[in-house]
Amino acid sequence: MKVAVVGANGRVGQHLCKLLKKSAGFTPLAIVRSEEQRAYFEHELQIQASLTSIEDSSVDQIGKALEGSDAVVWTAGAGGKGQDRIFTVDLDGALKVIEACQKYKISRIIMVSAIKAESREFWWNTALKPYYIAKRAADAVLRSSGLNYTILHPGSLGDGPAKGKLAAPDQIESKRTSSYSIEREDVAQFIQVALENPDKTLQKTIELANGDVPVKDFLQKI
Ligand SMILES: NC(=O)c1ccc[n+]([C@@H]2O[C@H](COP(=O)([O-])OP(=O)(O)OC[C@H]3O[C@@H](n4cnc5c(N)ncnc54)[C@H](OP(=O)(O)O)[C@@H]3O)[C@@H](O)[C@H]2O)c1
Repeated sequence: MKVAVVGANGRVGQHLCKLLKKSAGFTPLAIVRSEEQRAYFEHELQIQASLTSIEDSSVDQIGKALEGSDAVVWTAGAGGKGQDRIFTVDLDGALKVIEACQKYKISRIIMVSAIKAESREFWWNTALKPYYIAKRAADAVLRSSGLNYTILHPGSLGDGPAKGKLAAPDQIESKRTSSYSIEREDVAQFIQVALENPDKTLQKTIELANGDVPVKDFLQKI
């Protein structure tokens, strides 16, 4: 399966590209936004890369970069660097990738969104409100896109080693009464699990946080 990773140079993106590269049956395509990043992926990691800045490219340019992929993963993000980029990357960048998938007939898409994005009471009174508004809107567009989507809602991301265990869906509350976190490596591993298990993950929004449920058991609960 050829998987285009939008945001490949990011921290989740790099875990994912390396994981897919060493997994039988997967070929990653790294979508990056600088020549240095393209050279790093192609020469050091031996991963095919496309130099395509999502915010600076049209839907057709993005579609041509993604064309031929069996699936697309959105794990790009503005990283909190300015309100403008919340619009141009987290919102419109995601929408352009969705449109490109529709237009270029790539039906499978996995979108990394954010925990409880649909629940305003979870994030309205936080500094993350603008970011969450963008994530919630992108999720809503994807749900009505006709694509075979999986939306992942990770908690606050950490850089520790993967734990391999997730919180059961009923352990995550819709109000922000506790904080939820997950390692980026766990998110990358779950993206691969989602690609391998469309029967369990298609047309679903899945909250991801550290917990005590092994991933194979978690899959039975979603
Ligand atoms: N941080 C959290 O706690 C948290 C929680 C929940 C969900 N998330 C979401 O999880 C996902 C992955 O997070 P992360 O920590 O891995 O993010 P990250 O390390 O900040 O990586 C984001 C990537 O997106 C790329 N990007 C930004 N603008 C782009 C553009 N115009 N065109 C192409 N690529 C572009 C960045 O490129 P450069 O490398 O050139 O900067 C970077 O590689 C994001 O969607 C994020 O919103 C984050």
